[in-house]
Parts: sequence; structure tokens; C-alpha cells
Amino acid sequence: MAIDGFNGPVDTGRRRFLTATTAVVGAVGAGITAIPFIKSWNPSTRAKLAGAPVTADISALQEGQRLILEWRGQPIWIVKRSKAILDALPTLDDRLRDPKSESVDQQPKYVLDKNPELRSIKPDVSVLVGLCTHLGCSPEMVAEIRPEPYDPQWKGGYFCPCHKSRFDMAGRVFEGVPAPLNLLVPPHHYQDDNTIVIGVDPEGAA
Ligand code: FES
Repeated sequence: MAIDGFNGPVDTGRRRFLTATTAVVGAVGAGITAIPFIKSWNPSTRAKLAGAPVTADISALQEGQRLILEWRGQPIWIVKRSKAILDALPTLDDRLRDPKSESVDQQPKYVLDKNPELRSIKPDVSVLVGLCTHLGCSPEMVAEIRPEPYDPQWKGGYFCPCHKSRFDMAGRVFEGVPAPLNLLVPPHHYQDDNTIVIGVDPEGAA
């Protein structure tokens, strides 16, 4: 059986990712914009499939916006978080399954060094693999701080409609949902203040 214009076995996980990613890119909420752009200097498709790093220019990224690109066939989210979102993150710890990111495979150590609760190199810029750790759907970003039907104390985060897993704006998973782990933080570093390279650790990182 063929899906998405190429012949091969049906990959339901991949199909879920493609469907969900399309939905997320199309969803623009108040004050939140998803920007699906991949800069033209990125490597060829063949190189990306082989795992080549991908470079992102975040100079135009505004607070509350998300840049979506692809690395190794996975959606990568780069989100600029507001001060209100950053202030809310530590208040969520007692509702989370792994608030201190003790599952070591879910992020490189260097994103915990300066900002353990933020899981990021720079406080305001979050970089995540946008795939739910339950069965691989791509969650929706719901970044507004306001009551939601699935959480009256919602402080912004990611909601996976497949089986209702929830993550905060650092990608930390809530207790009591099917997803077992925090969202993955990919290896990355800053080439300069506005350029992130996905797929390569900072020089000298342990
Ligand atoms: S895939 Fe996200 S909750 Fe099941």
C-alpha cells in the first residue's frame, strides 16, 4: 500500500505525524503564529535524511511565535517564550512526571546546566522535537495562559489530541497522561546570537 506519493509499507506513525504537523502549521491562535519556513541554505533532502545538521535563522522570531523545521524526518520546534510563560514554568513542578528532567536521554545535559526548569540554552528560546512521547503524534501548541477544557489551570503548553497527553512550555509531561516522558530536546548550539544549528552539540559539551 502506498501513502503520501511514495511506494512503501504503511507507516501509521509517520502518517500521524504528517497529519498532525499540517494541522499545527495551519492553526494560528491569538498572538501565536506558526511559521513553517526552512531557510534555503539548509542541506539537500538526501543530506537531511542522512542526518546532516539544519541551520535556523531566528532573527525574525517574535515572542509567542514558533518556527517549525525538519531534521532527520522529525519536526523541530523553536519557540520564543514570553516572560509570563517563563515565570509560570516553576509553578508547575508538582503536577509534572519528571519536573527536573531526570530521564537523561530526553535532553542533552547542557540544556539543564543554566536553566534546568526551562530545558534550554537561552531562557526564552525553547528547542524541541515536536513528537509526543506516547505514540508519536505531533501535539498542538496552546501557548496562551488561560483555562482550557482539559486543564482549568493551563499555563500554556502542548496538547496532544490523540490521547490527551499534555506538556508544559518546556516540553515537560504532566502526571496522569499516557505519554511517559518529556518531549525530546535535540542536540543543538548557537552559531551566533540568531543562528541555531540543529544536530550538533556546542563545542566542548560533555
Ligand atoms: S500520541 Fe500523544 S497522547 Fe498518544
